[in-house]
Amino acid sequence: MTDRLRIAVIGAGRIGAVHARTIRHHLRADLVLVADAHAGAAARLAEDLGAESTDDVDAALTSDAVDAVVVASPTPLHVPHTLTAVGAGKSVLMEKPVALEVEQVDACIAELGDRAGRVMVGFNRRFDPSVSEVHARVRAGDIGTVEQVTIVSRDPAPPPSEYLKVSGGIFKDMTIHDLDMARHLIGDVRSVHAVGQHLDPEVDDLYDAATVTLTGRSGAVAVIVNSRHSVAGYDQRIEVFGSAGALEVTNQRSSSVRLHNADGTEQSGPFLPFFLERYQRAYAAELDTFVEAAVTGAAQSPSIADGRAALALAEAAGSSARTGTTITLEDPS
Ligand SMILES: NC(=O)c1ccc[n+]([C@@H]2O[C@H](COP(=O)([O-])OP(=O)(O)OC[C@H]3O[C@@H](n4cnc5c(N)ncnc54)[C@H](O)[C@@H]3O)[C@@H](O)[C@H]2O)c1
Repeated sequence: MTDRLRIAVIGAGRIGAVHARTIRHHLRADLVLVADAHAGAAARLAEDLGAESTDDVDAALTSDAVDAVVVASPTPLHVPHTLTAVGAGKSVLMEKPVALEVEQVDACIAELGDRAGRVMVGFNRRFDPSVSEVHARVRAGDIGTVEQVTIVSRDPAPPPSEYLKVSGGIFKDMTIHDLDMARHLIGDVRSVHAVGQHLDPEVDDLYDAATVTLTGRSGAVAVIVNSRHSVAGYDQRIEVFGSAGALEVTNQRSSSVRLHNADGTEQSGPFLPFFLERYQRAYAAELDTFVEAAVTGAAQSPSIADGRAALALAEAAGSSARTGTTITLEDPS
């Protein structure tokens, strides 16, 4: 392999397009191929970006012209696509969640064996510059001992029902990002309590809003609030409260102009529209980390074990919401 990474994107949908464009602008990576079961979708995206396209997904996953693969296909295909690509010697950036069931992840980890380090799971929010700073400052002790974490994550609108049908539901599809973020900030989780709501009759899913409380083994508590319909835009906030202060990531807007007058002070404009705009820099930093590890052979992070841990929390949240009970998790140590 040269020190440039030749990458194929599998799945030319919403997030596949984000990754393809990010790769196109990377200094050490080349987008060589876009593959999708629908030839037209692959061709449209590839043509825009000067890459080849195919509907032969297995050929793309094993192609000699490819060093690494971004798996951005529907969730049930993440494991088979990743196993095929790693089996052919590729590094893989696999979208979240790893799979719909923890058992499938365990089987995947077992099959990967000592090649598991070649797989990064796409928890892009860890790479957001503001989140990275909060994480570093928490680690540096700037706010003392972490006591409480509040994560608000609301989408502007629900995805289409064809997407929802294979998504695994709100906890595995949407909350999973926040569950990973909570683990990132408070460490291992001891118990999970969740409440689900179905507020919009148009949404063809069990829940379209959820609140999850996680109690960490450290004693810190994290609360996650999700909704699939935020009229003000993509609402993304994090507060980490500690014994010596707090750190906060607030919403971003397309304009930072504020009006101050005798009636009050206010900032106009909605939040950024959605993940593409809000986490553009995060996707670029995620790709950068992936390319560096793929080229140097370092272990990828977030790892498939991180993906498993977040999925186990999502399963626990689902059980808690269904039964109204608090779910206690096994101590991994
Ligand atoms: N990290 C993030 O910010 C983020 C954001 C959105 C979606 N995702 C994840 O990415 C995955 C895809 O989500 P999306 O929103 O892009 O979905 P999407 O429905 O927009 O796109 C999925 C694409 O996969 C294609 N496809 C279907 N079957 C295929 C097959 N057998 N082989 C290859 N391609 C196939 C479809 O034709 C479609 O183009 C999901 O697992 C989702 O959880 C992650």
